[in-house]
Amino acid sequence: MTPPVIEARGLTVSFTLPGGFLTRRPPPTVQAVSAVDLSVAKGETLALVGESGCGKSTLGRALIRTQSISNGRVLFKGRDITDLKGEALRAARSSFQMIFQDPYASLNPKMRVFDTLAEPLRVHGGGSRAEIRERVDEILDAVGLDRSFGARYPHEFSGGQRQRVAIARAVVLKPDFIVADEPLSALDVSLQLQVLKLFDALRRRFSLTYLFVSHDLARVFGFADRVAVMYLGKIVEIGPATSLVARPAHPYTQALIAAAPSPDPVLEASREVPRLSGEIPSPLDPPGGCRFHTRCPFVMPVCRSVEPPMLPAGPDHRAACHLLGSGTGPA
Ligand SMILES: Nc1ncnc2c1ncn2[C@@H]1O[C@H](COP(=O)(O)OP(=O)(O)OP(=O)(O)O)[C@@H](O)[C@H]1O
Ligand SMILES: [Mg+2]
Repeated sequence: MTPPVIEARGLTVSFTLPGGFLTRRPPPTVQAVSAVDLSVAKGETLALVGESGCGKSTLGRALIRTQSISNGRVLFKGRDITDLKGEALRAARSSFQMIFQDPYASLNPKMRVFDTLAEPLRVHGGGSRAEIRERVDEILDAVGLDRSFGARYPHEFSGGQRQRVAIARAVVLKPDFIVADEPLSALDVSLQLQVLKLFDALRRRFSLTYLFVSHDLARVFGFADRVAVMYLGKIVEIGPATSLVARPAHPYTQALIAAAPSPDPVLEASREVPRLSGEIPSPLDPPGGCRFHTRCPFVMPVCRSVEPPMLPAGPDHRAACHLLGSGTGPA
C-alpha cells in the first residue's frame, strides 16, 4: 500500500507566551495543536474545520514544516521529516505549498504575473525560456485567466482574479501537498463557488492533495472527501464528508452543523440538534477531561475528568466522545 502523502502522529505545537517572570511561575503556554493524529491520502481533499483560534492554521503549517513542532512526528510519503534541517528541510518544503486567505500574502506586488509564475519554475530548473512560457500559459489557462494577464501586476486584478493568480503560483510546480488556509474567506459568496470549483478541477488535472482549512462547515461538505473537526487544539471528529454531515457523532460537530444553514431543509428539520452555548474556553487553560464538556449539552460526570479517546462512529469515521463508548450516542 502506498503511504499517505502526509501523516501526523501525536503532533503537538506549543507556544510559550511572555509573562510569568515576576510571579516566578513558569511562563504561560498555549498548546495550539495537541497530540493530533491525521493522514491525508494522495489525491484526497481533507477539510479542517473549527472555530477561530482552535489551531487550524498552526496544524496546517506544522504539517508542511513551516511551524516548529514541540512533540510528535510528521511523515511525508512515509518518510519522517520531523527533524529535517537546512538543505534537507528546504528540499522537503519544495513539495508543499500554502494558499492564504489574502492572496497578497503570497504575491510580490512589484512582480508581473508572468514572472510570479515563472520564478518557481526557473528556481527549480524548469527548462528553456520557451518551455517556461509554455508552462506559464498552461497554468494561466488552467486557472481561467487570459494569457495576456501575464503582463499585469497583482494590483490590476480583482480579488477573485488575484486569488486565481495565487492558486496558479501554488500549483505551478505540481506540489505533493497543498495547505489552503481559508482561501475563500476574502471572496464574495458568488465567487466562492467558482474558486471552489477551480480547486476541484485543478486537483483532478494535476492529482493534487489538499488540506482545506475553513471555519465554514457547510461550504466544504460537497467538496471535501473527508472532514476533520478541531476544537481547542484537538481533532474531535474525522470521517467521510457524507457520513459526517448525515451522522455527526460529536456534539460539537452537531452544534457546528446546527449553526450553519442546512442546504437540505428536510434533513435539517428531522434532526435534533443542540445549539452551541457559552464561550470558547481559554486555550491557556483548557478544561480537563473532554475539552468540550463546558459547552456540551450531553455532559456526563466522566466528561469532566477523563479525556475521551477516538472511538468508532462509522466506517472510517471516528469521534472523541464518551457517549460513543456508553452505547447511548447522542441523536
Ligand atoms: N505565534 C504564536 N504565538 C503565540 N500563540 C499563537 C501563535 N500562533 C497561534 N497562536 C495561538 O494558538 C492558537 C491557535 O491559533 P491558530 O491561528 O492556529 O488558530 P486558527 O484555528 O487558524 O484560527 P483562525 O480561524 O482565527 O485563523 C490560538 O490560541 C492562538 O492565539
Ligand atoms: Mg487560521
